[in-house]
Amino acid sequence: MSSGGIYPKPKPFSYHDNAEEEEGLLSGTSEHSERQPWSRKKVVGVAAFFILLLISGAFIRTLLRGPIVHPNSMWYTGSDTQTNGTHEFKRTVVIVSIDGLRADYLDRGLTPHLLSISKNGLRAKSMRPIFPTLTFPNHWALMTGLYAESHGIVANNFWDPASKTEFWYNRIESCWKSEWWFGEPMWETAGKAGLITANLMWPGPPKTTSGASSTYFVPWEDHVPLKNKHDQIMKWIDLPLRERPQLIMAYEPSLDQAGHKTGPMSALVNKTLGAVDAFAKDLQESLKSRNLTDIVDIVFVSDHGMTDTSDPELIYMDDIIGEDGLKAIEHEDGWPAMGLRFLPTANVTHYLNLLLKASDENPEKFDVYTHDTMPERYHFSHHERIAPIYIIPKIGYVLTTKAEGNVGMSKGNHGYDNEATPMQAMFIAHGPFTTDVKASVKGQQKDKLNTNWHSTSNDAFIMDRFQNVEIYNLIMKLLGIEAYAANNNGTVGFWDKYL
Ligand SMILES: *[C@@H]1O[C@H](CO)[C@@H](O)[C@H](O)[C@H]1NC(C)=O
Ligand SMILES: *[C@@H]1O[C@H](CO)[C@@H](O)[C@H](O)[C@H]1NC(C)=O
Ligand SMILES: *[C@@H]1O[C@H](CO)[C@@H](O)[C@H](O)[C@H]1NC(C)=O
Ligand SMILES: *[C@@H]1O[C@H](CO)[C@@H](O)[C@H](O)[C@H]1NC(C)=O
Ligand SMILES: *[C@@H]1O[C@H](CO)[C@@H](O)[C@H](O)[C@H]1NC(C)=O
Ligand SMILES: [Zn+2]
Repeated sequence: MSSGGIYPKPKPFSYHDNAEEEEGLLSGTSEHSERQPWSRKKVVGVAAFFILLLISGAFIRTLLRGPIVHPNSMWYTGSDTQTNGTHEFKRTVVIVSIDGLRADYLDRGLTPHLLSISKNGLRAKSMRPIFPTLTFPNHWALMTGLYAESHGIVANNFWDPASKTEFWYNRIESCWKSEWWFGEPMWETAGKAGLITANLMWPGPPKTTSGASSTYFVPWEDHVPLKNKHDQIMKWIDLPLRERPQLIMAYEPSLDQAGHKTGPMSALVNKTLGAVDAFAKDLQESLKSRNLTDIVDIVFVSDHGMTDTSDPELIYMDDIIGEDGLKAIEHEDGWPAMGLRFLPTANVTHYLNLLLKASDENPEKFDVYTHDTMPERYHFSHHERIAPIYIIPKIGYVLTTKAEGNVGMSKGNHGYDNEATPMQAMFIAHGPFTTDVKASVKGQQKDKLNTNWHSTSNDAFIMDRFQNVEIYNLIMKLLGIEAYAANNNGTVGFWDKYL
C-alpha cells in the first residue's frame, strides 16, 4: 500500500535543525522555549540511537505504510457502504484540530464559514479542555478520551521518575518514544476494528507501545501551507474504497503560533482566523463538490484557548523560596504552571510551607497543590509523572525568577485552569450525524428541549459546553466501532441521547 501522501518522505535531520528547536516544534514561539528555566538542561541522549534507526530506513517505511490491513477487516464484507452517486463509501470521519482556537474567537465576525458549517451542522458553546490546558496533554485527551493522569502526558515537558528521563514535546527523539503515551488513541481502536486510518501531523507518537500505528502517517512539519493540508486530506478521500481511510485526523498550528506571538486580540490572530476559516470552507466545499456532505462527518476542534500575557504581574520564585530554594529544585515541569521536584537533600516541607504561605497571602495570584490537595476536577494527581508540588498561576500572573524576569515572554499563553473562559476550546461539526442529532432533538419532548440545546434565531443548534474527553466516544459511534472502544473518561451514554 502506498503512503497515499503528497508529501515527500520526511527529512529526519530537519528535526534537529537549530532554528526549529529554538522555535519550539509544535507551537512556534511557544510554551517553554521562551524561557531559560533553571533546571531544564539535560536532554539530548537518545538522539543518536534514533538517527541510526532513521538512517536504516526501516523505521520510516513502517511509519509511512503502517500495518497491512487484515484480510478479515470490515471493509471486505461489503456491508454498510453508501454511494455518492458514482463511488462507494464507508462511514468516514475527518477530525481537524485548529490549535489555540479559543471558543469566543468564533464570535468575532471573522469566521463566517465555520459559522455557516455549524449552522448546517452543530456547534457547542465551547468545549472544556483537560488540565493542564496545553497542546500535548489535550491532543492526547482528544485521541484517547483520557485525563492527563491516565494518559501520561502531564505537560508539554516533564520529568518521569520511573524512567529518569524528561519528556520534551519539541524533540522528536524524545516525544516519539511510544512509552510516554498511555491509553489507546482512536486510530489504534479503529485499526483493531479493521479500519484504515490517516494521520496528518496530529500531535502524538507515530506508534503506541503495542506497535499500532495509523495506516497513513504524515509527520510533523512546520509552516506547511493550509492548501497542502487540504489537498492531502482530499487525496485520501479520493483513494479507491479499499485504500481509503475512514478516519482522518489533521492538525494545524498557525493560530496558536499567532496567539503566542502577538496575543489573542492582535491583528495577526484575526488574520490567521480568517485563514483557518477559509481552510474549513475549502474542506467543506471539496466534500460538497464530491456529493459527500451526507456521507462524511467532519469535526473541527481545538485543544485550548489563549489569554493575553503582554502585561502580566510577575511572581518571583526567589522572593518566596529564596536563592537556596531555587538551587534546591531538581526538576521543573510545565509552563506556565510549575511542577516542582526538589533535590533529595532539600527540606521539602520547608519549601512547601513557604509556597503555601505565599499562596495563602495572595490567593488571587496563584495556588499551590500537592497530590493530596489538587482539586478533584483537574483529574491531575494519580500519576507519579505529576510533580509532587504544583504551582498554578491565575490568569494575569506569571511565575518567574529575578534572573529571568519577563525576558522572552510571549504575548499570549495558555495552560491555566481549564474552567477559565479564555482557556475554552471549540467544537463545530457537520455531516450526516449532525442531521440525525438535530432531528432527534427536535423530536424530543418540549421539556427536554432547550435544557442543553439552543436553537438560535438563525436556526443554528448550539450544544452546551462539554468536555473534550467525550470526543473519543463520539468518533467510535460515528464509525460504528463502539464495540472496540477502549475504557476512557468520556461520560457513559453521553451521545446516546442523540445518536
Ligand atoms: C449524491 O449522493 C446521494 C446519496 O448521498 C445520492 O442519492 C444522489 O443521487 C447523489 N447525487 C448525484 C448527483 O450523484
Ligand atoms: C481583532 O478582532 C477583535 C474582535 O473583532 C477586535 O476587538 C480587535 O480589535 C481586532 N484586533 C485588531 C488588531 O484589529
Ligand atoms: C464521489 O466521490 C469520488 C471520490 O472522491 C469523486 O471522484 C466523485 O466525483 C464523486 N461523485 C460525485 C457524483 O460527486
Ligand atoms: C524542615 O523544615 C521544617 C519546616 O520549616 C522544620 O520544622 C524541620 O525542622 C526541617 N527539617 C530539617 C531536617 O531541617
Ligand atoms: C479514566 O479512565 C481510566 C481508564 O478507564 C480509569 O482508569 C480512570 O480511573 C478514569 N478516571 C476517572 C477520574 O474516572
Ligand atoms: Zn495548543
